[in-house]
Parts: sequence; structure tokens; C-alpha cells
Amino acid sequence: MEFKEKYQSLADLANSYMDNEIQENEGLEKTIYSAMRYSILAGGKRLRPVLGLAVAELFDSPPGPVLPYACAVELIHTYSLIHDDLPAMDNDDFRRGKATNHKVFGDAVAVLAGDGLLNHAFESMLKYTLSSAQTREDYKKKVNAMQLIAQSSGVKGMIAGQVIDIESEGKKLSPHALKYMHKCKTGALIRASVIAPAILCDATQDQIKSLGDYADNIGLAFQIKDDIMDVESSLEVMGKPQGSDAELGKSTYVTIFGAEESKKMLFEITNNAIDSLSIFGTKSEFLIGIAKYLANRNN
Ligand code: IPE
Ligand code: IPE
Ligand code: MG
Ligand code: MG
Ligand code: MG
Repeated sequence: MEFKEKYQSLADLANSYMDNEIQENEGLEKTIYSAMRYSILAGGKRLRPVLGLAVAELFDSPPGPVLPYACAVELIHTYSLIHDDLPAMDNDDFRRGKATNHKVFGDAVAVLAGDGLLNHAFESMLKYTLSSAQTREDYKKKVNAMQLIAQSSGVKGMIAGQVIDIESEGKKLSPHALKYMHKCKTGALIRASVIAPAILCDATQDQIKSLGDYADNIGLAFQIKDDIMDVESSLEVMGKPQGSDAELGKSTYVTIFGAEESKKMLFEITNNAIDSLSIFGTKSEFLIGIAKYLANRNN
């Protein structure tokens, strides 16, 4: 199967799972369900669940047992985007080609929709774990995977990065602080997207080390590319506003190193990601494809 087709087929698996997970509800609180569904079904590249399902395939596992965890990461990612776009944060009006959640539902419901998605992520993983774990060992690896996802999305991961990002507006971060911010705000959840499934698939320590290096590199490359696109792409192509970073005086790879140097780093880091997979031989072809796609994407 061609890379694009395969990527789409894995994204489709995630889309149907989430479509089923977050349904409309006719109760008095129905707005919250509509708001959650609005952002979840707005699209997006589905990178995080696709990575998880690609790792499952690397270990010859069917997608089913990894899907609930892979999609939980996407629910958490989507919550982080809803909050990231709020007036109190990046104050953006478009996301995934549509008006941002708060533009449609108001700030209060957008905050709650993010909270709802975050809680749903853990509820759905716990529910699946309780209904599927067979042995103590099986429970243990599933709980380990969830712990990694919790840690990576919390104050030791994504939230740490978002705090540094917000507090650095109008200031110039050091290269070290900039890299640390990117590692936290974007890298942590991407790492969890790869490593949680690897734990579920009984990867060895060596395999986890290689996949961790791969994930850290694509995670950093991903945010560098995002910084470059904020300067060079457009609302039409990205589905989110261009120039948002400059407007808020953010420190990005482009402001600290310049666009050309950032592009060089992006390709170097992508090559490091690819090299990290050598122990898997030809089986890593699709993960290599993802690294290349991310470096060359335009949305
Ligand atoms: C955007 O993430 C926010 C960052 C971490 C840079 P994505 O570029 O993965 O957004 P979607 O999910 O495709 O909309
Ligand atoms: C946000 O980074 C990363 C998150 C944790 C949501 P950005 O603020 O650069 O993401 P975009 O450019 O709005 O998608
Ligand atoms: Mg932001
Ligand atoms: Mg933003
Ligand atoms: Mg950005």
C-alpha cells in the first residue's frame, strides 16, 4: 500500500473510534457534547493515533488493543488545541479549517469542552483496561501506558511547555529554553503516542530506547516545522491562522535561529529520527515515511 493510503486507513480507524466515543446527547447539558464533537470531528492530521497504530503494526499486533489508548491521546491533543486557541492563550479564530471552539460555543463552554475531552480520554482508557485485562501482567502494562499518557499531558509534559510558551511572550528565550519548551509542549505527547503503544505491545528495553529516540526527534522536528509554517504557510493551507506567533511576540525556532537555519535543523533532526529506527530493519518503513512526511508537510 502507498504511504498516503496507509496513513489514511489508520486515520480512518481512529476517526470511526472517536466518532463513536463522543456522541451527541439530548440532555439539558447537550451543548457540551456538541462542542466536544465539533472539535473532534473537525479533522486534523490524526498524527498521534496514526503513530500508535503504526507501532502496533511494527510489533505485528492488530490495531484493536492499541486503538483506545491511541485515540485517548488524540482526545487530549484536541483538548489542548481548544484551550491553546482561547483568548487567554493564543487567541486564534480558526482551527482545522473551521472557526475555533470558543468562537462557536463561547469561552466558558470551550473551556469545559476541553475538560470534557481530557476526562473522557482517561475514562475510555480505564474502561477498556478493566474490560480487557486478563492477567496481572496485562493490567500492569496497560496501567503503565496510561501513566505515561497522564504524565506526558500534565505539568511534566504538555502543560509545562504551554506555561513556558505563554510566559515567554514578548521575551527572547535562550536556545536551551526554546528546545525544552518544544520538547514539553509538543514532544511529550508525541513521545507518549509512540511509547505507550510500544509498552502495550511488549517492546523490549532496546526497542523502547530506539522508538523513544525516534519520537523525541520527530516531536522536536514537528514543532520546528509548525514554527516555520506559522511564517511561511497560509490560513487556507493550514486551516489555522498564519502569523499568530509573530502577533504575540512568541519565541520560536524562526525568531531565534532564522528560517533557513531552522529548516536545516528540521532535516537534520528528521534524519536522526530515521537513523534511530535501524534496529527494526525494513519493518520500520512506514514510521520512516511518517518522519519524512512531517518534515515536508505544509499543514
Ligand atoms: C498542532 O498540532 C499543535 C502543535 C502541537 C504544533 P497538529 O499540527 O497535530 O494539529 P492537527 O491535529 O493536525 O489539527
Ligand atoms: C501549541 O503550540 C501546542 C499545544 C500544546 C496545543 P502552538 O500554539 O504553536 O500550536 P498552533 O500553532 O496554535 O497549532
Ligand atoms: Mg500556543
Ligand atoms: Mg497556538
Ligand atoms: Mg504554532
